[in-house]
Amino acid sequence: MRYLVISDIHGNLEAFRAVLAHAARKRRDGVLFLGDAVGYGAAPNQVIERLRRMGAAVISVRGNHDRVVLDPGRGAVFFNPHARRAALWTAEVLTSANRRYLDALPAGPRTVEADLAICHGSPSDEDEYLFGEDEAEQAFAAITAGVTFFGHSHVPCMFERADEGGRESLVGVLLRGNRVVIDLDPTRRYLINPGSVGQPRDRDPRASYGIYDSTARRFTLYRVAYDVEGARRRILGAGLPHVLADRLLHGA
Ligand SMILES: [Fe+2]
Repeated sequence: MRYLVISDIHGNLEAFRAVLAHAARKRRDGVLFLGDAVGYGAAPNQVIERLRRMGAAVISVRGNHDRVVLDPGRGAVFFNPHARRAALWTAEVLTSANRRYLDALPAGPRTVEADLAICHGSPSDEDEYLFGEDEAEQAFAAITAGVTFFGHSHVPCMFERADEGGRESLVGVLLRGNRVVIDLDPTRRYLINPGSVGQPRDRDPRASYGIYDSTARRFTLYRVAYDVEGARRRILGAGLPHVLADRLLHGA
């Protein structure tokens, strides 16, 4: 099976459109969406409507922002002030059909195939960030799948865990470049972040997504330039904080 792997769209329609256009000619059997359709960006309804139109082909998990915008008075107290503003604004503008869509997103982790799973933050907690190898070690202990895709940190990266003759090792690497092809070793286990479609944070402002071929065990990461100015204008036009618009310029 070949999957389009997308995460952290965050209400950025311009970035989402660019990713779907870039991926349009690549053969795929399904879509893995790792959560955070909304939050930060100013096109939450349009993004959800695009996801809804993709129908049953999308296998999703809920992100922390998808959960919080349903009850921002309670959930957003843990957000920084800009994220909180955006969550309150998103809650106001969401249509009831799109609110129902978010409400129906299942919490991860979710098994996609026997050896393939998806989650938002970490397998045991959708709010937890996987940045370092210690966190990844705990995450590997919480799942059995050989390959797990995760999001939340907005940083494309991969953790590889090997167990050779009783000698265990774990390596984490950042995935950088226009196109990064990784052939996964079937004897090792992986946690892979395809980066963020709508709010990259690895100093590369281009939208990030992946294609995973579960038969060949090949993951390919792509970076796609998009209309950052259009997304910025939309955020400023909605009266959301400047910082949410400007960070898109820097991918930070
Ligand atoms: Fe996110």
